[in-house]
Amino acid sequence: MKRIIVTIDGPAASGKEKISKYISKKWKLKHLDSGILYRQLALIFLKNKVDIKNIKQVKKKLLEIDNVSFKKSREIRTQMISDLSSKIAVYNCVRVFVNKLQYDFVNKNKKTQRFVIDGRDIGSVVFKNADLKLYIEVNAEIRAKRRYKQLIDSGEKSIYPKILRDIKLRDKKDKLRKNSPLIIPKGAYIIDNNSSFKSTVNQINKLLQKI
Ligand code: C5P
Repeated sequence: MKRIIVTIDGPAASGKEKISKYISKKWKLKHLDSGILYRQLALIFLKNKVDIKNIKQVKKKLLEIDNVSFKKSREIRTQMISDLSSKIAVYNCVRVFVNKLQYDFVNKNKKTQRFVIDGRDIGSVVFKNADLKLYIEVNAEIRAKRRYKQLIDSGEKSIYPKILRDIKLRDKKDKLRKNSPLIIPKGAYIIDNNSSFKSTVNQINKLLQKI
């Protein structure tokens, strides 16, 4: 069976997870959310009191880690872990570590051979030769409104202006960093996710039909 890799990149809260889950189910692609790996690493650093401003400490800890969970949990969805993960994501050593986890995942799942992988640098750096590259575009205000509604619906307290500010800050960090900044990958299709989910997945399904 031919290996198929679909990459989905885009800014924070652009709907990559929902889209990836949908196409994973519809097209039987195994889903890997690379953001989870940055978040799990941030949690390990936090629990082990690693000073993330100190690159020596970060490198030392990376050498000691022998297992990183690929699972999503409540613990890694907090605002603190969101902030920490985007701070550690600027380090090349952290990115090399996470990229290796992704390559191992794809190589380990030899029988599956069909993957959808989402993040910030998947089509531009990690899987440059992917079969289909997507870049999700949504304006910051719509992303903040959606995130706000999600939090309120799940019973959490939330303040819209703060969410918008955090999203803009993470965008800035992701787009301006030196190592693997968030860009539209070469050859990627830009998917407009400003309106309904249905219109978004219609655009993607048409592209997937062709590969
Ligand atoms: O996608 P998610 O918000 O869970 O990712 C957490 C953080 O990890 C992001 O804010 C981003 O800074 C970083 N990240 C990254 N490259 C990826 C995936 C996530 O830099 N491929």
